[in-house]
Amino acid sequence: MKYISFDRVANVYDYSRRVPQELVESMRNSIHKFLHNKFSDPVFRILSVGIGTGRVESSLSLKNIDLFGLDISQLMLEELRKKTITYQPFIAVADANFIPFRKFFHLTILIHLINLVPNYKQVLDEILDISETIVIGEVFGDLYSNPIYINYMEIIQNLGWQKGTRGATRDDYITYLLEKGYTVKTETDEVDVKYKNLEVYDTIKNQSPSNLWNVPKNLHLKAMNKLNSELKTKGINLDDQITAKSYLYLNYFS
Ligand SMILES: C[S@@+](CC[C@H](N)C(=O)[O-])C[C@H]1O[C@@H](n2cnc3c(N)ncnc32)[C@H](O)[C@@H]1O
Repeated sequence: MKYISFDRVANVYDYSRRVPQELVESMRNSIHKFLHNKFSDPVFRILSVGIGTGRVESSLSLKNIDLFGLDISQLMLEELRKKTITYQPFIAVADANFIPFRKFFHLTILIHLINLVPNYKQVLDEILDISETIVIGEVFGDLYSNPIYINYMEIIQNLGWQKGTRGATRDDYITYLLEKGYTVKTETDEVDVKYKNLEVYDTIKNQSPSNLWNVPKNLHLKAMNKLNSELKTKGINLDDQITAKSYLYLNYFS
């Protein structure tokens, strides 16, 4: 099977996917509250599948909360290992399709993973055997409704590029887990963030989002040239500061 490799962005991953600390804290508080309401054990064990650099997940470990993380990218895990974290997570290279644990955890979490795995049902089946409860979610800055991003997407699609689908959409995984007898509770939060148009422009220019990795180089260069002239015509200034939202979206399955 061909997996998507995050090795290529490991050293810039946290910066390019940064979200406000408030949102990370909101995620941590929500997950901790859920664990305390659901279980009375003195120590909780969380498994994060596709933990990557631990961008947001590393906030979850505490004296009484052991965090374990799996990922197929050695380089993403190395970035996590470099971080100074008070209660270091236990991490290992492993594939979400073949998880080497059974019934050991209170909670399994998947943040920005299920949209990437083509065989998402197999991954979900693996996870059902690991813990009684599951959180699947996202913590992200809303690049997708930025006018520069939308403009670029229109251009590459007009040039003949087709956006492929890889893993599960929100509806796909919710439907699958409801069919398996789970109930779902959704928690969301959002925070306003100020940034410059230039940051979005650079993100696109560097093909940083994983959905742009397979845009061929020559097509990308052509699209960037067209984007430059369209931004000029529309009077969009890259030095302008804009406000957009960053979101937390968590689905709790139990
Ligand atoms: C978009 S990143 C998310 C990282 C982290 N959860 C976050 O939100 O910042 C996706 C991560 O999933 C990992 N991944 C992709 N397919 C995987 C698989 N089959 N098994 C384990 N990890 C996988 C990638 O290597 C990458 O680190």
